[in-house]
Amino acid sequence: MPIDFDTIVNLSKKRGFVFQSSEIYGGFRSAYDYGPLGVELLRNVKEQWWHSMVRMRDDIVGIDSAVIQAPQVWVASGHVASFSDPLVECRNCHNRFREDKLDDPDQCPACGERDSFTEPKQFNLMFKTHMGPVETDENIAYLRPETAQGIFINFENVRRTARMSLPFGIAQIGKSFRNEITPGQFVFRTREFEQMEMEYFCRPDEADTWFRYWVDERRRWYLDLGMREENLRLRPHGADELSHYSVGTFDVDYRFPWGWDELEGIANRTDFDLRQHSEHSGVDLSYFDQERNERFLPYVIEPAAGATRTTFAFLIDAYREEEVRGETRVVLGLDSRLAPVKVAVLPLSKKPQLMEVSQRIADALRTRWAIEHDITQSIGRRYRRQDEIGTPYCVTVDFDSLDDGAVTVRDRDSMAQDRISMDKLASYLAERLT
Ligand code: GAP
Repeated sequence: MPIDFDTIVNLSKKRGFVFQSSEIYGGFRSAYDYGPLGVELLRNVKEQWWHSMVRMRDDIVGIDSAVIQAPQVWVASGHVASFSDPLVECRNCHNRFREDKLDDPDQCPACGERDSFTEPKQFNLMFKTHMGPVETDENIAYLRPETAQGIFINFENVRRTARMSLPFGIAQIGKSFRNEITPGQFVFRTREFEQMEMEYFCRPDEADTWFRYWVDERRRWYLDLGMREENLRLRPHGADELSHYSVGTFDVDYRFPWGWDELEGIANRTDFDLRQHSEHSGVDLSYFDQERNERFLPYVIEPAAGATRTTFAFLIDAYREEEVRGETRVVLGLDSRLAPVKVAVLPLSKKPQLMEVSQRIADALRTRWAIEHDITQSIGRRYRRQDEIGTPYCVTVDFDSLDDGAVTVRDRDSMAQDRISMDKLASYLAERLT
């Protein structure tokens, strides 16, 4: 059964995944802070992306480029001229909306007034600032609205220094900023967010093949990390939806509580970006293909995902409620690679003999995994809390442990319990945690 939006937002706040930013000042709209569990989940999502896109491949390398780049970058990329959304204002209540996201283009969703919208104006989404102490038009700089351009402008640096030949990719994870007209749905659409983008450079005549390859590969990544197949779909963009740089885009959509919405876009950006940067910078970014003895501008296939949005989707997807002995059990069935805490160590009581053993076990396991040494409340409540935050294994130290040198390991999903000798505990967990 699909989870409702408020349930997941409440769980996120209650358990410390995500907090409203600046909460003690009444909150700052559309900005969020990741709490102790949220930051682990977000880091694990990014780590899994980096692992599959960079570490496991010899045709892709990573970079970490600056957030603030030369303003010419954004002129060349087309963002200064075309990175905008149609903005309308209600003449009655003065709220502003993205025209293309209105359910009814003739009725204000805030005050209900009909035919009250102004003519749409194109509103540029880039955040502007000034470099240095003088605020003049010459000093305008932009916070990057996508990580991709940092990759294009380093194409030649990376190709040369990493000695890459086509086809090859450059990957980057980092913050991006967009002055969204209508941010919303919790961390789904925010003005500051994180992206995971990879630009795959290839021969123009091989672009279609690589496009299909990356669409399949990216879908597989979500499924491999346990996302439910029925909640994922691939959707081709219609011609009127394509970004200014794309000749073909597939979205990976997720079934959010409010309906299907985008998780990631995979686009064929052709040679648009390298051509634009060659022309605007005067630096030739073409590639000499030794095998074919020809020079050309490579085409680019771009899988572009949102790290924060994907984290939110994994959280929603993992949530389930079950009836156990007449009570509702809430479980986050996260893949163990994503779970913020891998193992919770729980002494049955706070008696010093037990605490000493459980602390020793927690410290030993901590060298390999994210561990919680959870000592408060009854054992039942502690299990419930660990289920709710998605911890795959709980290790309970009881009074028998002092005699038999064994502990009880409880599996989050089956709730089955195994009695395991303490000296075998690490290898038992290693076999089960991916
Ligand atoms: N370089 C191409 C590009 O940026 P995009 O479709 O605009 O393409 C890629 O963005 C991904 O970044 C989206 O699929 C989404 O997951 C994420 N994203 C975009 N805008 C976002 C926002 N305002 N808040 C959260 N995530 C966002």
